[in-house]
Amino acid sequence: MLEHLKILTVTHKRTNLNEIGDYVLKVDSKELLRQHLQHLHTQFRLEELLYLATCNRVMYCFVTEHPVDSVFTAHFFQKINPELSLQQLEEIDEQVLILEGEEALAHMFDVAASIDSLVVGERQILRQLREAFEECRDWGLTGDLIRLMIQQAVQSAKEVYGNTRIGEKPVSVVSLAIQQLMRTHLPKQARILLIGAGQTNNLVAKFLAKHGFNNVTIFNRSLPKAQEVADLVMGKARLLTELEDYREGFDAMIVCTGSTEAIITPELYAKLLKGESGEKIVIDLAIPNNVARSVVEQFPVHYIEIEGLRNLAKLNLAFREQEIVRAHHLIKKHLIEFPAVLKQRRLELALRQVPEEIKAVKSKAINEVFRKEVEVLDDTTRELLERMLTYMEKKCIGIPMKAAREAVL
Ligand SMILES: NC(=O)c1ccc[n+]([C@@H]2O[C@H](COP(=O)([O-])OP(=O)(O)OC[C@H]3O[C@@H](n4cnc5c(N)ncnc54)[C@H](OP(=O)(O)O)[C@@H]3O)[C@@H](O)[C@H]2O)c1
Repeated sequence: MLEHLKILTVTHKRTNLNEIGDYVLKVDSKELLRQHLQHLHTQFRLEELLYLATCNRVMYCFVTEHPVDSVFTAHFFQKINPELSLQQLEEIDEQVLILEGEEALAHMFDVAASIDSLVVGERQILRQLREAFEECRDWGLTGDLIRLMIQQAVQSAKEVYGNTRIGEKPVSVVSLAIQQLMRTHLPKQARILLIGAGQTNNLVAKFLAKHGFNNVTIFNRSLPKAQEVADLVMGKARLLTELEDYREGFDAMIVCTGSTEAIITPELYAKLLKGESGEKIVIDLAIPNNVARSVVEQFPVHYIEIEGLRNLAKLNLAFREQEIVRAHHLIKKHLIEFPAVLKQRRLELALRQVPEEIKAVKSKAINEVFRKEVEVLDDTTRELLERMLTYMEKKCIGIPMKAAREAVL
């Protein structure tokens, strides 16, 4: 049965993140997704189907007895995206990883434990996998094999997260920057300037809000985006051109724009200080840097810049990757156990009728086969007989169950 498990997946390991989009079901509502998946389920005569799409992978996991080779895969993805080029279809197995049986199972366990993630150890994948499963289950697409596999994969992933250090040490530059900021013990009411309102500072603002900073002013080239970021942190939005005239001083500034020139020059910095001479925190997340080197050289600043954070992120990732060996060790135990889990389930299904059948035998004995003999018994004897038969019934039900359990172990 395990050999019927198949996975077709496109991940960050084989292709760039933008191209993963070519293999995703492009629908703009859950209802359309359900319809597409049900259509695939029927059209390819799949017994079960699970669909998972995240920012670094798309996965079609299914159960079928039919062989899944590159011809099947090309045909399958042609249905997913009719715009795939002939060349993409001819070279499908360069992009799409085709897995079956134990290999597919092992891949699923690695995915759940975040070993296969772009950022090893990120836990979001486990939630995404569970949600994808629940959705497909509710749409009637999955059955016993995928259910048991997800159940075991989740259990083994939890063991990995709990017993290795795979999720330790942040690896995103923004979370590392915030971690460094928190180490300075900056008070919550500190005056913080955010320069730039792109994706990076958007994330910065969310972290600042999470940590309770309540005096943030955002400067950006365009006001609506500044306002969007300001709303995240209950801050004030200003145009970048107004920065020069800003008179309220600051304790920390986090600078991150797409400008290729330094935005914070020594002249501007001196103006922003408003005569204060204490050390300020300056975080520059832009590439190239947006804070002129001379600012760092001329003023007393606690300077945190992206290159240092990026190196730290790489070191942290390397640290997490070391944990993969320990994680695989834990996963292996679950992989070895999985065939027994499947067997147990098959036995449970086969033995589901046993209690009913034994009950029926008892009832037939009393009401048909020995009816006449039972009728002439006095109440006490009849009651004793029934108690004995009920006892036998319970014991008889237990015998095959126990034998089945022992056979699996
Ligand atoms: N730290 C990280 O993890 C990380 C990750 C990715 C990128 N980066 C770096 O962070 C910087 C911004 O990235 P992002 O992803 O936040 O970019 P983004 O989402 O594209 O936003 C760019 C921001 O920069 C502003 N901007 C662009 N050109 C400008 C200019 N010439 N003068 C002033 N403002 C300008 C934009 O203003 P408008 O809203 O007016 O367009 C917007 O606020 C880049 O240097 C990038 O290399 C850092």
